[in-house]
Amino acid sequence: MAGKGTFLLNGQPFVVKAAELHYPRIPKPYWEHRIQLCKALGMNTICLYVFWNAHEPQPGVYDFTGQNDLAEFCRLCQKNGMYIILRPGPYVCAEWEMGGLPWWLLKKKDIRLREDDPYFLERVDLFEKEVAQQVAGLTVRHGGPIIMVQVENEYGSYGEIKPYVAKVRDIVRQHFGDVTLFQCDWSSNFTKNGLDDLIWTMNFGTGANIDQQFARLKELRPDSPLMCSEFWSGWFDKWGANHETRPAADMIAGIDEMLSKGISFSLYMTHGGTNWGHWAGANSPGFAPDVTSYDYDAPISESGQTTPKYWELRKTLSRYMYGEKQAKVPSALPVTTVPAFRFTEVAPLFDNLPEGRKSRDIHPMEDYDQGFGSILYRTSLPDLPQPSVLTVKEAHDYAQVFLDGQLVGKLDRRNGEKQLRLPACRKGARLDILVEAMGRINFGRAIKDYKGITDKVELAVDNGGHTFVCDLKNWEVFNLHDTYDFYRQMQFRPLTTAAAADGQRTPGVYRATFRVNRPADTFLNFETWGKGLVYVNGHALGRIWEIGPQQTLYMPGCWQNKGENEILVFDVVGPKDARSEGLRQPLLDQLQVQRPLLHREADETLDLSGEQPVSTGSFAPGNGWQEVQFGSPVTGRYLCLEALNAHDGQDRTCMAELYVIDEFGERLSREPWTVKYADSEEVKQGNRSADKLFDLQESTYWSTVKGTPHPHAVVIDLGDTYHISALQYLPRMESHVPGGIKDYRIYVKETPFKQ
Ligand code: GLA
Repeated sequence: MAGKGTFLLNGQPFVVKAAELHYPRIPKPYWEHRIQLCKALGMNTICLYVFWNAHEPQPGVYDFTGQNDLAEFCRLCQKNGMYIILRPGPYVCAEWEMGGLPWWLLKKKDIRLREDDPYFLERVDLFEKEVAQQVAGLTVRHGGPIIMVQVENEYGSYGEIKPYVAKVRDIVRQHFGDVTLFQCDWSSNFTKNGLDDLIWTMNFGTGANIDQQFARLKELRPDSPLMCSEFWSGWFDKWGANHETRPAADMIAGIDEMLSKGISFSLYMTHGGTNWGHWAGANSPGFAPDVTSYDYDAPISESGQTTPKYWELRKTLSRYMYGEKQAKVPSALPVTTVPAFRFTEVAPLFDNLPEGRKSRDIHPMEDYDQGFGSILYRTSLPDLPQPSVLTVKEAHDYAQVFLDGQLVGKLDRRNGEKQLRLPACRKGARLDILVEAMGRINFGRAIKDYKGITDKVELAVDNGGHTFVCDLKNWEVFNLHDTYDFYRQMQFRPLTTAAAADGQRTPGVYRATFRVNRPADTFLNFETWGKGLVYVNGHALGRIWEIGPQQTLYMPGCWQNKGENEILVFDVVGPKDARSEGLRQPLLDQLQVQRPLLHREADETLDLSGEQPVSTGSFAPGNGWQEVQFGSPVTGRYLCLEALNAHDGQDRTCMAELYVIDEFGERLSREPWTVKYADSEEVKQGNRSADKLFDLQESTYWSTVKGTPHPHAVVIDLGDTYHISALQYLPRMESHVPGGIKDYRIYVKETPFKQ
């Protein structure tokens, strides 16, 4: 509970040193090993989310067994001398499918997620009751390890509805009884929903200016205990971008500073683990699905190995043991290789479709009671003597279009691809649209993320200068559920070595067996594969995708058999070569993308000569949000921010976030924004591209490349024309504000800038 300026445990001041771990992301046989690794670091608490959608796969069907045995995980923590901070949602974010919310909520079309919606709250109540039945008896009051329970998660980044947050608090309080409750948020928005009777904690990343992060809280509640409830050790990876890392030195310095000031923390993640199967989520604006590995560049690697970060942190924490002895580091789990093996059988998808169902209109997969996997929409085309244009406005998430069984092209939601040219074809030609669902968006307003095709499909035909558009109807729909049983029952046929490596790419399920003499952790290599999902001995290992950066999947030794093992890969594209092998090290940083990550073509230079700025001036030095008012609103769709120099006198421009304010003083939605131009972006190491300005994350930022001189400029297409009255800017979070802009010019135009 909260005492004066500190937490109290059994009446004594207590500094929380928490390690964030997520039990569903760790194979159950390894739970205790990971808990012991955290204990040996010098931590005293495990902080964990409860993932609603993992526990309630269907309404009213609850699962707290095996990997989902939350109570067992809590007991293991207690056995190893660790307290617990429980974060039972209902929403958790965590780069997990739909932020932990069950997909079946979407079957109620008008549902308002994370709001005061009666159905949503009714389901939350039922779920929290089940969770409490498992672990409410394990709070400290009952002699158990649970010291605090969190209410909702970073609600300030979603909405401003205190009555909703209060209802979640009441539900949690009702079911968990007498336990300390708290809320976590960002320092920039925690006041929006902070409830008077709950403890407030702050989330921020390594490198952030810690005093500044707590300044507002200290002002409002001078006696509050201080806690960084998520101190981000690293960051998550998304498909098609570089692997993320964060310097160990920043993490160590932050933890040292917090502990020297008696500030509690939870290190998110101390061990990230793996998004097994289809559980990885996605981010928005746009659509940015996360990879399978949740390594997070955390001190304990995805597979439970200690890293240099681990040992440095352990050294630092040895100075803050408060009289306790630091536990011994448990021995490392063995790692092995698996000799290269070939896949010997294939079940081509188009020969193995389940029974279809007729549907006049096109519907998302949730309408067919399908939560995960792929869905195939089939129809026959009219006579098309000329090529036509197919528009699928909302294909969620990766669509491949086939005409009479031949691949015509793909529509990748990540890239905003919506149109394809179809060749001329005869009446009755078969159009197949195979759509693979990736994880549902887990952050921001876009979490109501339906899968499959969620809007109409149109065909535009040019008829002698006149474009004729028709809405395609009369579909046959095939639901391809992502389950081991669904793949296993397919009709396999032998895959000859020649066929497996002949350059043909066939969507389907591929099967192999491989032998293991001594089961041990290894990383299966999928560099020669397309895109899909992998199962070993019935365990879902996760998604693969040739674009990277992740090219291997972690295969834990505890899920292997001594002797023969079975592997199934459902590849929606088809492999280039159907083989694999187990490596000792993961490949997490091998990007294979055709499109450059930059927002500038090689021959482009922004030409601002002849343009009149709508505002010129200087930003103040230091951290925190700043606003530039334009005097009277200006009208435009394209916004250019030009940085003429930096407060630190260096040549870089860095910027964490940017908002545009309309004539009513409201922030514009950044959902439709795209970057039209950025003169320089640091994407060789890390992901510092200009779209970080509106990725909803205050801890990520746009950075120009060191050595590229001022001025720097970014141009954003706001998606539509608006009346704009102001701009809000957030520099980087570090106390020395690297690349913080000093003098600026802002331009707004209705037409694109010359570039
Ligand atoms: C926020 C959320 C977490 C996680 C991190 C980023 O802090 O609360 O669940 O998504 O961001 O990894």
